[in-house]
Amino acid sequence: MTKTLKVLGIESSCDETGVALVEVRGSALPVLLGDALYSQIEMHQAYGGVVPELASRDHIRRVLPLTEQVLAASGQALADVDVVAFTRGPGLAGALLVGAGVACALGAALGKPVLGVHHLEGHLLSPFLSADPPEFPFIALLVSGGHTQLMRVDGVGCYTLLGETIDDAAGEAFDKSAKLLGLGYPGGPALSKLAEQGEGTAFKFPRPLLKSNNLDFSFAGLKTAVMVQAKKLAVAQDCAVEALPPQMLADLAASTQAAIVEVLVKKSLIALKESGLKRLVVAGGVGANRSLREQLNAECAKRGIRVHYPELHLCTDNGAMIAMAAAMRLQSGQQTASEVYAFDVKPRWPLDMIQIGL
Ligand code: KG4
Ligand code: ZN
Repeated sequence: MTKTLKVLGIESSCDETGVALVEVRGSALPVLLGDALYSQIEMHQAYGGVVPELASRDHIRRVLPLTEQVLAASGQALADVDVVAFTRGPGLAGALLVGAGVACALGAALGKPVLGVHHLEGHLLSPFLSADPPEFPFIALLVSGGHTQLMRVDGVGCYTLLGETIDDAAGEAFDKSAKLLGLGYPGGPALSKLAEQGEGTAFKFPRPLLKSNNLDFSFAGLKTAVMVQAKKLAVAQDCAVEALPPQMLADLAASTQAAIVEVLVKKSLIALKESGLKRLVVAGGVGANRSLREQLNAECAKRGIRVHYPELHLCTDNGAMIAMAAAMRLQSGQQTASEVYAFDVKPRWPLDMIQIGL
């Protein structure tokens, strides 16, 4: 009989509480049995960004009801869970501690082992939950609110960092530019929505490191360029930036998005060319961006490259990707779950360190 293993995953690294249950059946790709998510966006909106202490407190409120919801929806009981996985890092220390603490308490109470997962590995492996999962090896473009990285992925746990941002992440560039255009938090989805009404060539914003001889990124200068241009327009119109004519704001948004997307697409294509690989996986919140998807799809199609994305709702933080990463690590023998319930979290944790156990 094929051995099955049910893995409960808890994500609490930032402003989303996510819980999911995944089942491992032999060597087949693990299957998602159920997942639930609570986003704190509305709570943080009043402050224009994530307030870490509020985030931690809210995770405490949400995590057990979400767990009950996932178990009920998937027709399982707590006693059916074989392993409890949680996000060990990177992320906000207090927020991570909630997920780690609850996971270890559950594990200890149930007498089941626990496993700490790298948040970015969760993003990286999330396309394996889609209807069109990738195959190893591939190039991964990881674009989240805190990270922008290109990696070569040869298997579960075999990650080679090819390049990364030297300052702001792509998601941060979206969020900061959106904020200064008065679009609130989180800015990425709002800016990309507004960009649909605008012209991406209206303003020429910098494409940093595009011609550098490496695969690194730099997005910190972009928000300054957007701010200078927006203020110039505001002075000319004699109004505040947020009160600029709608078309002008849309053109600013579209030009910002065009700059970010062009750099991400071109660097991804260089990584693919240099590695000779014909598969690209895009993961992380910015992977939900429609323009990025359209341009990557078009450029990759011309070169015979397959592009894989997570399902749209699994691009941003969620519990399914944590349960999946844990399941795939267990299945591949990369890690065993532990019955030691003394946990720690790693607010800063480079992904390529996990293969040497750091
Ligand atoms: O992966 P994620 O949920 O959280 C982190 O691990 O950081 O990514 C969140 C980031 C935010 O910066 C958000 O603005 C951005 O992803 N984002 C988008 C879109 N949806 C989310 N950026 C551009 N276009 C989108 N449609
Ligand atoms: Zn994330």
